[in-house]
Amino acid sequence: MKVGQQVILTGMQPTGKLHLGGLLGAMDNWQKMLGDYDCLFFLANQHAITMPYVPAALRKNTLDCVAQYIACGLDPKRCKIFLQSHIIGHTELMWILGCITPIGQLERMTQFKDKSKKVGESIYSGLLYYPVLMMADILLYNAHLIPIGEDQKQHLEITRDIAQKFNNIYSETFVLPEPYIGKTGARIMSLQDPTIKMSKSDKNQNAVLYITDSDDVVRKKIMGAVTDSDSKISFDQKNKPGIANLLNIYAAATNQSIEASVAEFANLTSYTPFKRAIADVIIAKISPIRNKYLEIVDDKEYLLSVLNEGKEEAQKRANKMMAKVYRKVGFLID
Ligand code: TYM
Repeated sequence: MKVGQQVILTGMQPTGKLHLGGLLGAMDNWQKMLGDYDCLFFLANQHAITMPYVPAALRKNTLDCVAQYIACGLDPKRCKIFLQSHIIGHTELMWILGCITPIGQLERMTQFKDKSKKVGESIYSGLLYYPVLMMADILLYNAHLIPIGEDQKQHLEITRDIAQKFNNIYSETFVLPEPYIGKTGARIMSLQDPTIKMSKSDKNQNAVLYITDSDDVVRKKIMGAVTDSDSKISFDQKNKPGIANLLNIYAAATNQSIEASVAEFANLTSYTPFKRAIADVIIAKISPIRNKYLEIVDDKEYLLSVLNEGKEEAQKRANKMMAKVYRKVGFLID
């Protein structure tokens, strides 16, 4: 099969403003694949209700997220952008896959364990089922390559396991998807505690850099990033996690290796010029994105039209796969 025919599929939860982790770990890689693959990008709004949330905010964030996708370079003329809940098939396939997914395997998922701790007593089954819905998202479209950050790798592994299991039980049906994880940017850490992932739910908002942050705010957050008492720029994840995170950010933003980035700053004897250089690169990267985002975010009609176009194509493909799956599992099709 030619690369151009291979399906790339990935998504993001529309839970708020896009941060640097989502930009460098996800969106940047997605954007590079346009033109070379058959690209499907969706908004995982059904995943977004597995944690406590506010419906009105989810509604607003959904259209904001479409605007962010487009602002980051996902040109709707070159890919399909759609909303998970618009398509009949994701939850239907989830149910069928759930019927061959061991509970123990779901309970062992790192993300389930981490998020369960956050919600305390009220752990609902949607959180446990989260990876099964993700399997359905991927397998419904026979996707070959799934661009994700490090944190989603385990969910891809379980998807492959269950797809293989389905193929063994019901005969060859699903393509086994491969993860695509960028060499840099796959795990951007908090600017205030570089041992934890950058996340929009962080209580300390200085730890998170958003694509909507003004140039001044970007500079302030980078200059205030936690480092160490040394002054040497080297990549040492264990002993210098702050510097390692900044090097990773720099390497991903400039499209070069960590080694090349370290070499660029090898002669510095203080962290200040290093941080200044990172702030410059990030400002240059996100300011056009922010401007494009601001230009389209209030154009509800346009954003809905993008989703509707995506829906039409995605639903066609989903119908085809669901007819095949229903036949295999013994459901009558009218
Ligand atoms: P979500 O919305 O948490 O994140 C979207 C993408 O951004 C990556 N990411 C990061 N990468 C680097 N550093 C970070 N700090 C960082 N934070 C987030 C994530 O790895 C992800 O690739 N379950 C998924 C959405 C989803 C999905 C799917 C993805 C649902 N179904 C099917 C691929 C295929 C999620 O919640 O991503």
